[in-house]
Amino acid sequence: MAKRVLILNGPNLNMLGVREPATYGSQTLADIEKMCKAEGKKLGLTVTCKQSNIEGELVTWIQQALGTQEALILNPGAYSHTSVAIHDAIRAIGLPVAEVHLSNIHAREQFRHHSYVSAVAMGVICGFGATGYKMALSALAEKL
Ligand code: DQA
Repeated sequence: MAKRVLILNGPNLNMLGVREPATYGSQTLADIEKMCKAEGKKLGLTVTCKQSNIEGELVTWIQQALGTQEALILNPGAYSHTSVAIHDAIRAIGLPVAEVHLSNIHAREQFRHHSYVSAVAMGVICGFGATGYKMALSALAEKL
């Protein structure tokens, strides 16, 4: 049976394509989600994509992944750097989570260098733009 992977994107990632293209690329979130679904198909994964600007909504979706998904890809956006609630939700469900950032957060402002999610992620991919989501899908397909 195809393994299910949920891709969650956090705040402001609905603005991709318009938002700071030099940092985040020119693809829209819809482009990236389409690419991920196609890539998932090749890897034998069923990919579902969601985006929210609301921290609590992301927490609820992470909780609901337990029993409905086999793994998650999460770009928590700015909540990476602030959210103990997202950290705790990932801990609570115990599913493998690949943390993805389009930009290289370590080469940017100091406040982006720490992510609360990284300590509870299976792995972190950053700085490869939209390709990072494909890399995460491939890593999860192997793990599952
Ligand atoms: C981001 C990096 C974060 O620092 C930022 O707040 C984002 C996007 C990335 O994908 O590079 O919203 O997660």
